[in-house]
Amino acid sequence: MSDQQETGPTMRRLSQLESVVLWNRARQIKRELKQGVKKPYREVIDISWGDPQGGGIKPLSFVRQVLAACHYPQLLNSDKLPEDVRQRAERLLKECAGRSTGSYTATQGIPYIVKGISEFITRRDGGVPSFPNNIYISSGSQWSLQNIFIILVNSMSAVKTGVLTPVPCYDKVNMSIRELGGVTIPYYLHEDQGWELQIEELNRALESAKGVCNPVALYVMNPGNPTGQVQTRKSIQEVIQFASEKKLFLLADEVYQECIYGEKSEFVSYKKVLAEMGPPISETVELASFHSASKGLIGECGLRGGYVELVNVDPAVMEYIYKLFSTDSCASVPGQIALNLMTHPPQPGDPSYSLYNEETQLIQTTLIHNVRRVFEVLNSVPGFSCQPVEGGGFAFPRLHLPLNAIHKAKEAGMQPDEFYCVRLLEESGLLVNPGWNFEQKEGTSHFRMNIMIKEETLEGVLRRLVSFHTKFMKEFS
Ligand SMILES: Cc1ncc(COP(=O)(O)O)c(C=O)c1O
Repeated sequence: MSDQQETGPTMRRLSQLESVVLWNRARQIKRELKQGVKKPYREVIDISWGDPQGGGIKPLSFVRQVLAACHYPQLLNSDKLPEDVRQRAERLLKECAGRSTGSYTATQGIPYIVKGISEFITRRDGGVPSFPNNIYISSGSQWSLQNIFIILVNSMSAVKTGVLTPVPCYDKVNMSIRELGGVTIPYYLHEDQGWELQIEELNRALESAKGVCNPVALYVMNPGNPTGQVQTRKSIQEVIQFASEKKLFLLADEVYQECIYGEKSEFVSYKKVLAEMGPPISETVELASFHSASKGLIGECGLRGGYVELVNVDPAVMEYIYKLFSTDSCASVPGQIALNLMTHPPQPGDPSYSLYNEETQLIQTTLIHNVRRVFEVLNSVPGFSCQPVEGGGFAFPRLHLPLNAIHKAKEAGMQPDEFYCVRLLEESGLLVNPGWNFEQKEGTSHFRMNIMIKEETLEGVLRRLVSFHTKFMKEFS
């Protein structure tokens, strides 16, 4: 079990502390550069977060125009804005109390936007019905995820609640479960098989929890963060079957559903596959699926808009979920608007369509280019190996570090990949996220890098990375 009992709360907190040290140092270096301190680089490039606009990807004009008109309604009369932008803003303002984006909304979100999301889901899933009452908008999907963990984790019980989570895993997930008093039951993704999720491994993980905790839920990410794998329909069916047999609540984190790069990969939602599997499974497996305006082509993570859709959840629990979400009054209104624009983009024939199409195509091409370049470059340098990134927002290359470097890291009281990342930051001004923060498999080293960045930025990143890495490997070989 990879819970507090094994790693220890202090060690885990230390891991988070170490990360803070890395980010604090980055801030300090930025200040030093401003003060004119000489370094081998002119600026720090931060690719440690999944922040598309922070990485230089331009916001979509349609999104910003509608938001601008919503926030400043005088623009509704401006002929500088396309007709469909003004109409959409007008429609959205009509749904806001007092025709203002500065007002509270219903707890689940603005009903018109929630209904629009359910229509989007139905369309995406080829007609599988979606009901507005089962959807909750939140200020970012992380908030929804946290609320569902609150429902699942019994912090009072003597036997701790267990949640199966992948290794490696998006860091905030394990943190949320533990903060609530639960434990994580790690299942390892198979790195050499492109970070595949394997059912035998889920079985092994569940067996390992016997007598230790009470497993109630299974958390999956498709596409994966930081691992970039995309599940096949068959794999999703197997996971649902497993959840059904073991009576586990299924949490499907699908925030990267628009980010698919592999030629043979396609995104299929858990909700769709569940419906296709038919009764009794389709009527019994409890599912929460998450989506967000933070990633994908819209990439508006700062606006904070996400949602959860719940399927087959008991009505009494749904009531409690309502109460939980109401503790935050309502989700950020700009985030809700972003969700409306993400789920209802301009259509062919609309005045905004051609620019929207041009901008989204450019982002798509950039991301596909980036994952290919990272794969090609890193796999050509000794000491790195990188699985193909089929989807998502990150690459998670493996570091094959010399023993001397591992010893040196130990002496410095660091994990080997942290040691590498600290040196990378100091010497090349590149900030990446060490694999230890994602609770990678013991004895391996990785780092996570954001690929949702401009092509020129990526080229600069790769140059700095390869040059540093070559020197580092020479120094410790
Ligand atoms: C897998 C995954 N889920 C959820 C989130 C949270 O996204 P947000 O709260 O911005 O919607 C992230 C953010 O990086 C993520 O990578």
